Amino acid sequence: MIIIVLSATLLATLAAGQSQDSCYADQTDPYILFGTATPYEAVSNTNASYVYIDKCEAKQFWIISRHGTRYADADEVDELKDLYDLQEKIIKNHEKDGSGSLCAKDLENLKLWTLQVVSNVKRDLTPQGYNDLYRLGKRFKSRFPALFKQTVTKDSFKVQFTTKQRTAASAIAFVDGLFGTGMGLEFPEALEDDMLIKPYASCKKWEKDVEKNKDTTKEMKKF
Ligand SMILES: *[C@@H]1O[C@H](CO)[C@@H](O)[C@H](O)[C@H]1NC(C)=O
Repeated sequence: MIIIVLSATLLATLAAGQSQDSCYADQTDPYILFGTATPYEAVSNTNASYVYIDKCEAKQFWIISRHGTRYADADEVDELKDLYDLQEKIIKNHEKDGSGSLCAKDLENLKLWTLQVVSNVKRDLTPQGYNDLYRLGKRFKSRFPALFKQTVTKDSFKVQFTTKQRTAASAIAFVDGLFGTGMGLEFPEALEDDMLIKPYASCKKWEKDVEKNKDTTKEMKKF
């Protein structure tokens, strides 16, 4: 009998506690992987120890990396404006229809939300994008100190990027993180048809079967 009473109490506590526990405003560790374009810095590996493998020595370092966070273009910003409809629907659910389970603080925050986005037709690198690659460089340096303590020359390190501002600026940020700002590594000129870092742009089959094929994004659009 006592057990039943306790269980009922426990259930009631859990049910009452649920709305409290699900306040996004109080979460110190938000679900940052929920975005499709989370900055690398927010989800980076925080382990800064040397990578040490017994009887081994790091000799070379290769990375093919994407550029850091870029600005949205005007079309993307237009799509983001649809979020105002969603905002309105969620508020209406709570206040007019009596449904929805956001806590009061979250609902208040949602009402205050406005779209804060800067559009840039060229989709250049943002300050966050610079930090993404700068800090990535710093992390690699702390993990492979022996490789990056040497003086940087164009014979010891080669950096390559495409013709876009965001990739060139990302490469500079990465090198700044590795060797210190303005260490003056000479960069080669960006190639229009770079078969190493942008092979898809020269691939007719990819263009036809993937890029111009509506089926490519079919599953994404269902979601
Ligand atoms: C951090 O990295 C070092 C070197 O690779 C490894 O030995 C250690 O287990 C890592 N620590 C954690 C917590 O993953």
